Formats: sequence, C-alpha cells, structure tokens
Amino acid sequence: MKDGLTGKSIFRKDYEPYPWDVKQLHLFFDIGRETTTVRAEMQFHLKDGFKPSQAIVLNGKDLELLSVSLNDRPLGEGDFVVNGEALLIPDAPPISVLKTEVRIHPANNSALEGLYVSGEFLLTQCEAQGFRKITWFPDRPDVMTAYCVTMQADRSEFPVLLSNGNRVAAGELPGGRHWVRWEDPFRKPSYLFALVAGDLAMVEDHFKTRSGRDVVLRIYVEAENLDRCDHAMQSLVHAMRWDEDRFNLEYDLDIYHIVATNDFNMGAMENKSLNIFNSKYVLARPDTATDADYQGIEGVIGHEYFHNWTGNRVTCRDWFELTLKEGLTVFRDEEFSADMQSRAVNRIRVIRDLRSRQFPEDDGPMSHPIRPDHYVEINNFYTATVYQKGAAIIRMVHTLLGESGFQKGMKLYFERHDGQAVTCDDFMAAMADANGVNLDRFGRWYSQSGTPQVHVSDRYDAATRKYTLTLQQKTPPTHEQADKQALVIPFAVGLLTGAGGELPTQLETGTDVLEGTRLLVMEDEMQEYTFVNVPEKPVPSLFRDYSAPVRIFYDYSPAQLATLITHDSDAFVRWDAAQRMAVSAILELCKRSVNGLEMTLDAALLKAFQGMLADRAADPALLAEAMNLPEEDYLAEQMEVVDVDGIHAARKFIQRGLAGNLMVHFAQRYAELNDGQAYQKSSAAMARRALKNTCLGYLVETGLGESMAVAQLASSDNMTDTLAALKGLLQMDSPQAATALAEFESRWKADALVMDKWFSIQAVQPGPNTLNRVKELMQHPAFSIQNPNKVRSLIGVFAMLNPTGFHAADGSGYAFHADRVIELDGLNPQIAARMAAAFNRWKRYDEGRKSLMKSQLQRIAAVEGLSGDVSEIVNNALR
Ligand code: BES
Ligand code: ZN
Repeated sequence: MKDGLTGKSIFRKDYEPYPWDVKQLHLFFDIGRETTTVRAEMQFHLKDGFKPSQAIVLNGKDLELLSVSLNDRPLGEGDFVVNGEALLIPDAPPISVLKTEVRIHPANNSALEGLYVSGEFLLTQCEAQGFRKITWFPDRPDVMTAYCVTMQADRSEFPVLLSNGNRVAAGELPGGRHWVRWEDPFRKPSYLFALVAGDLAMVEDHFKTRSGRDVVLRIYVEAENLDRCDHAMQSLVHAMRWDEDRFNLEYDLDIYHIVATNDFNMGAMENKSLNIFNSKYVLARPDTATDADYQGIEGVIGHEYFHNWTGNRVTCRDWFELTLKEGLTVFRDEEFSADMQSRAVNRIRVIRDLRSRQFPEDDGPMSHPIRPDHYVEINNFYTATVYQKGAAIIRMVHTLLGESGFQKGMKLYFERHDGQAVTCDDFMAAMADANGVNLDRFGRWYSQSGTPQVHVSDRYDAATRKYTLTLQQKTPPTHEQADKQALVIPFAVGLLTGAGGELPTQLETGTDVLEGTRLLVMEDEMQEYTFVNVPEKPVPSLFRDYSAPVRIFYDYSPAQLATLITHDSDAFVRWDAAQRMAVSAILELCKRSVNGLEMTLDAALLKAFQGMLADRAADPALLAEAMNLPEEDYLAEQMEVVDVDGIHAARKFIQRGLAGNLMVHFAQRYAELNDGQAYQKSSAAMARRALKNTCLGYLVETGLGESMAVAQLASSDNMTDTLAALKGLLQMDSPQAATALAEFESRWKADALVMDKWFSIQAVQPGPNTLNRVKELMQHPAFSIQNPNKVRSLIGVFAMLNPTGFHAADGSGYAFHADRVIELDGLNPQIAARMAAAFNRWKRYDEGRKSLMKSQLQRIAAVEGLSGDVSEIVNNALR
C-alpha cells in the first residue's frame, strides 16, 4: 500500500513504553521552498529497568537520508536497518548521541502534513504523526524532550523565522542570509513541534498574568489581513484571563504566537507557544465574517490556548488516549464560550451538533468508543465521537461532582501528572481520588460505543398523589461490540403542572423537598423513581440541560410539548420540545404523502410558533434556535429507510405553511428587529440578527420576502445580514438571485474566506441542477482542489449538506463524489478520507440508492495504491 502503510490495525493493548529517554534534540534547518535540509542531534539515555544493548527505533517517512552517525562514528549500510517507516540501530550503547541529516521537499508536499508551503511561507503540521516527515525521531507522544531549533534562510524571502519557545540568538550570514535560534524550556512530544518561515506581517498585544508576568501576544498573517486580527486577539486575551479565573491556570512562557494560513487540513493546532490556525478561525471583519464566524474564532482560539495545560503540559501516552486532551479541551472551550456569551444558546448549539454529527457516527460503520481499542490510520479518529461525545462525558463528570469537586480533581490531576504523558484512567483516578468517590462504573463510558437509549414511562395515582417515572436504558449493539453494559447516567428532572408551574419534588425514599431541578443518577438497566405529594399528573421535564448524551424516548402529547415550550425553566427542554413537535409534524407528513394523502399543517406546531413569535421576553437567539426546523439529515436519522425527497417536500411544506399562516407575525417581528442600527459585535446584537434572519428565512417563502431580502442586501453593513439576504433570494429562486450572486462575486473574488461562503451557498441549493453548478464552480479561478477550505465549502457541502442533490436517484451525485475522493486521495489523503465518509450511511437508503452507493464505494476501494486513510473508511463502510 502507498505511504508504506500495511493497512493493518494497531491495538491499544499492545502499548509498550519506549526504552530510551531523549535528553535533548537539536535541529538545524536550512530552509528552502523546493529543498530543505534538516540535521538532528539527539541524546539517548537507556531508561532504568531496560536490558542493555537495546535497539534505537526511529520513525521517518518520505525522507531522503543523507547521513547517520552514532557517538560521532558515521554509520554505513550494515550499521542500521530501514524498514518502511522505521529506522533501527541495533545494540546501541546506553548513552548514545545520534546525528542524522535528511533532505525534504516542502513545495511538493500536497498532503499538508510535515513541512509544506502556503502562499509566501513555509510551515509545519505535526499532529498526529507528521514529525516523521521532517526528520527521523521516535514520533510518539510519550517521548518528550527539550528542543533547540536553529534555522537559516535567505533573509528577503524568509524574513520571519519562528519556532517554539524563546528566541535565544540570531545573526547574519553571507549572501543575504540570516539565522535564528529558538529554545523551548518545556519538554514536549514531537507532535507539538512547529516551525514557520516566510514573509508575514504581525500584530502585537500584551497580557499581564495574574502573577504579574508580561506575555507578548503576536498574530502573524499575510500583510493584507492585518485589519482582520482584532477579534482573534481579544479572544486570546479573554481566554487567558478565563483560564486563570475559572481553572486557576496561568500561561507559562513569555511569548504566545499565532500564525494564520489558508492551507490547513484542520481548524487549528496547539503547538507549544506557536499555534497554527486555519485563517477561517483568525480573520474577521464585520463585512467579511458572520456572527457564527466570530463565535467560531472565539471558541477555537480558546480551545488551542486551553490545550497548553490540557494537552501540552499533560499529554497523551499514545493516540488511543486522544480524548484525554481533546474531550477535556472541548469541554473547556464550551464552558469558555458559555461564560463569554449566552450559556443557553451555546449549550443548544453543542447539543444540536452532537445529535446531528456524533449520533449518526456512533450508529454507523465507524462507530467506536471515545477511547478506541484499535485503528488503522489515527487521522481517521479525530472524530465527533472522540471530541464531542468525549466532551459530553467530561461534562457528566462535572455534573456528578459539581464545579468545586471537578476543580479539585483538575488540581490533583496537574499535581500528579504535570510534565507527563498519561491515560484517561489517570484522569479519572485523579477525579475520583480528589473527591473520595468511586468512578469505576462510570468508566464504562470510555470503552463502550453506541448511543444509549433511555425509555421513560410514567404513572400517576391521584388517590395516593404519587407519581412514578420508570427509566429503562439500552444501548443497541454496534458493528464492533455486540453486548452492551448498563452505564451511569445522570438524570436531571423537573415536574410541571399542566399550566406550566414548577412543582417542588420529594422522593418516596427521601425527605428533602427541592424547588427546582433534581439530579438523579441511574446506574442500572431499569430504575424507578417515585415522587410523593404530587397534586396532579405532572408534565415531566426530562434530562434538563441534556444531563447525559442519550436518546430520550417519552411519548409526549402535543399539549405536554406546548406546556414545556412555553413554560419550562430549562432552555434545552424548551428547545427540544419545539424540535420534537416539528420532527413529528414533518415525519407525519412524510407518511401521509407516501400513502397518497393530502399534506396539512400541524395545528399544534402553528400555535407554538405563533406563541414564540409573540414572546418578547425570551432571548431572541433562543427563539431563533427553536424556530429553525430540524435539518433534513437529522430527520433522515429518525426514519427506518430514508426518504430523501419525501423529507425535503414535507419540511418545505411546513416551512411554507408556517410562513403563509404567520406572515404578519413574522413581518412584524422582522420589522422590529430590522431597526437600521449600525453593526455591533455584542451577543445581544448577534441574538437580534439571528432572530431577524430566521424570520427572513420564512418570509422569503411568502410574497413579502423578495423585496425585504433585496432591501436587506442593499443596506447591510455586515456579512451575517448580507449572506442571509443572499441565501433568501436563492432559497426562493428569485430572478434577482443571479445578479446578487454576481455582484457578491465581483466584490469578493480576491478574498479566499468570503469566496468559500459564495461556493457553499450555491452547493447547498436543493435539487437536480446543483450538481452541474458544482462542476462549473470547480473551474472557477477561486477554486482549487488542493485547498482544503475550498474542497470543504464546495464538494463537502454538496455531499454532506445537500441531500436532494447528493442523493439524486440516478446516482450522478455519487459518481461525481467518488471521482473527487479518488482525485483527492492522490493529493491529500486526510481530506480524501473526510470526504469519503459521506457514503458511510449508505445502508439506510432505498435499494436503488444503496446499490448505487455501494458500487461507488467498491470503485474507490479498488483504486490501486489507495491511501490507508481512505481505505480504512471505505472498507469499514463496505463491511
Ligand atoms: N489538536 C487539534 C488539531 C489537529 C487535529 C491537528 C488532528 C492534526 C490532526 C486541535 O486542538 C483541534 O482539536 N482542533 C479542532 C478545533 C477545535 C475547536 C475542536 C479542529 O481543528 O477541528
Ligand atoms: Zn484540540
């Protein structure tokens, strides 16, 4: 197989410690776009307890080896073995100084892993196993060492030379060249190494830590983007302050650098003191970035900053433990965003994302526990499960222990493990020990895959005034685990009267009477909770704040849902009740139309919407969340066999029906919110825009919408309003849409991030014509198949967010997409593998589509020299 991969799984149980301590690593880079040479000097000390005359094993990939020496003796052919990605030096002395020299070719590196080129600069991406594409080294996270990095390069081509840690020396060289040396005082694993060299501009700010140290903050960007760094810088300052205030964690160096690049496989990377970011998560100006972009930047800047403690100071023993740093850091960034903006709105968006991306993953061919037991290609395990479900599991620990118990656990975790590479079990042990509790059973969440279902039923006895809730948990088998165990499930519950008042709760087994939410902990397969002194049959408010990442089954009546939507104290429950009502209305219509029955608008839903539109007290952003109908993909997940066109038609019917019946209300609310005020970045202003544009999304389904959208487009002073208006025109297929798109294009054609939006809004248009448009757009000068952001915004959006386009019954969408996966595999296997996942749910469709998707998967699987990345995805899907 290509890339030297064997295609075989590696297993968590096979972990073996590395026999050597690497005392330090000196790296010398002679930088060039076409060719860079890398010299490495490493000191190996045999660890106590290992037999003498061990081999030293190093990893390397696509390296042109120039020389190797051991304790200053040059090694020849017979002195070492190169086997695939491993270099082995047998019988090394217990203290060994190893020197290597290699040549690499950044300009030919289209995989964007290792050292590669982006615009006017060179940069690295090492997580998870990219360091081996730079030099020979034990490229595994449990080998931590001190780095000293010297770079030399032409000064005019590469004026800026950056690496991790402190800049300790620099100088001039003959021929217009210069050199710089960086030293990182913190030992780190190779995946946190970074280097940047090139022509970049910079903005600078400062942060005073709470112990009084001054930290210089710099954001490096291409010169034309200097006016788009303010928000990222403010977000960084907020993140640094928040981690001190909430987690008692202070930054540990005097420099914090962020570099923005247009060419990046992921969102951003937490390299020690030299974060590298996809420019999408740095650059923002009101006229170029939407409110969602601003929020994304704040969250990702926070996330990478928070890794400095949860990831860098304490890292993972091996990549099976990835959720140790990612799940925990996502939990931290979620809490940061919740503390900065509206907690409720953030929480709902996190839950929506978990259900729409992680649930399907956990139910499909790639299902795995948050700590997987085996993998072929680690890059395929940076998943919604490891990240979002991982964070949800940390959140349950937080719920069970409370904020102060959780912080006690964090403190003990750092006391025990600062500077180490550890496991999820170490984390849980610190949490348990600090609180004197046993979390062994809870630990099953780490090893069990699949989404648990909790079936809730109830009975009320008016004579005894007792109300009993019966909960039954069941996790359906997943492809790699047939038998499932009962999990510990935090169950936060409240009881409402039919009129919506909150009832105090008292359990039959206890004496305390609680006014608000009661937290119960389910441990067994089945559990009953009986409440006493209940004056009437209550409406149960279940899993408040979504206290566990489970599918909740309870047979709510429309009246009960209406009570929850209007009166529950918990924002998640209110939102979820509105979504439930919409889901059942849409699925009901789907059924009716299959049976040849006429579609009608659900009266309860209409009434609920009317109520929400009239609600002037609620946070407008929450109303917007509740009135955004569930996405087609989420609806598809609720069906036995997905009816692509039926779902689309039913959802559209409801959207139109609501719009038509409530036109006056939507228009009035829109007019109130469209008050002509100048753009503001505040959360309150964002909330108003969210509701305004939700109203517009309905109004374009009526005769009123077109002129409103046109007017909004003309007067807009920010990208949120501009894009909403443009989408509105496209959604209604307005004759003005083409002109509006063309004007947008001519204004923004030189702006990569804005053009991504232009590609996406076209790729997402439903219907059979979009595929041809996507093909045309691939020829657009702003598109490049080599650029991951472009691929995601055009090809990814079409395949993952446009069900009626991608799933066209003739299979044209599938054939097109398989071609792209194959094309991308030759350039960038990580991105190709992400795209290939669009076929993962193929078994859930009708026979025709199933067989069309299957044959495309087979076609991809048969490609000669297919990467391990794509092969793992498609072979899992086919199995
Ligand atoms: N460590 C990752 C970035 C990464 C992942 C690099 C996989 C290479 C391979 C980083 O901390 C991260 O998790 N980034 C996320 C964004 C974050 C806000 C969840 C990403 O890039 O999507
Ligand atoms: Zn991360």
